[in-house]
Amino acid sequence: MTDHIVVERRGAVQVIRMNRADKKNALTRAMYAAMAAALTEADADPLVRATVFFGLPGAFSAGNDLADFLTVATGGEGGREVWDFLLALARAQKPLLSGVDGIAVGIGTTLNLHCDLTFATPRTIFRTPFVDLGLVPEAASSLLVPRIVGRQDAFALLGLGEGFSAERAKAAGLIYAIVAEDTLEPAVLAKAEEVAAKPPEALKIARDLMLGSREEIVARIEEEGRHFGERLKSDEARAAFVAFMNRKKAG
Ligand code: COA
Repeated sequence: MTDHIVVERRGAVQVIRMNRADKKNALTRAMYAAMAAALTEADADPLVRATVFFGLPGAFSAGNDLADFLTVATGGEGGREVWDFLLALARAQKPLLSGVDGIAVGIGTTLNLHCDLTFATPRTIFRTPFVDLGLVPEAASSLLVPRIVGRQDAFALLGLGEGFSAERAKAAGLIYAIVAEDTLEPAVLAKAEEVAAKPPEALKIARDLMLGSREEIVARIEEEGRHFGERLKSDEARAAFVAFMNRKKAG
């Protein structure tokens, strides 16, 4: 277990908080495992009607821990935690909401694609620098982003790694609402309570219909994962991880 993920219940709402302030919520294997377990528990518990993801003020998540990526790039063990988390997200049976403030890099952006309602603050920037890191999109983002935003903006986000402001993300259909920093969490929690108060069986069917085939999403996560695993060991990726790790020494 890890105290970098804090899970709590607020009535019928489960809150999963990423809580690794010193690394801007870069996600470790233990953090993925804790979040996957929380999603699985929520699905099994009839008292939970919705799950909310929060980060910290100014840092939703800086994405996967690049030290963990470097471990794999240099021949070490990667583990399945990230993929287990992605599959749990894609297969989640109950509504998911997120409240994003500030940094939202890599999976800090793509996990929101699996949320039914994402709120962000005006200072939030969504960014997926997969290609710049020698990697490929994950979390079925290569399937879901073009569907949501169209091919051109998808290429800008996933291919070029352009940052999307909250305003651009809202215009593109990636998020539900933009709210001020100090009202983010109350706004998300109020909406989660509204979701939790709906007739759960009807809402589940409606959500399943809107999501369409989960297996298509799961298949894409697995296809991306095969490429991702190979790319992690590429010269392009190794060079990018080493450059990040050395940037302060160099600067
Ligand atoms: N993995 C590991 N450590 C990370 C990290 C990551 N993804 N993101 C940030 N950190 C660490 C930094 O190394 C730094 O640690 P240190 O204080 O021990 O040196 C600490 O978190 C704070 O980050 P810092 O870069 O000083 O903050 P910033 O506000 O200037 O920049 C980011 C924040 C997110 C823009 C920048 O850290 C960054 O680009 N991180 C990498 C993001 C990324 O590529 N993620 C993978 C996507 S697949």
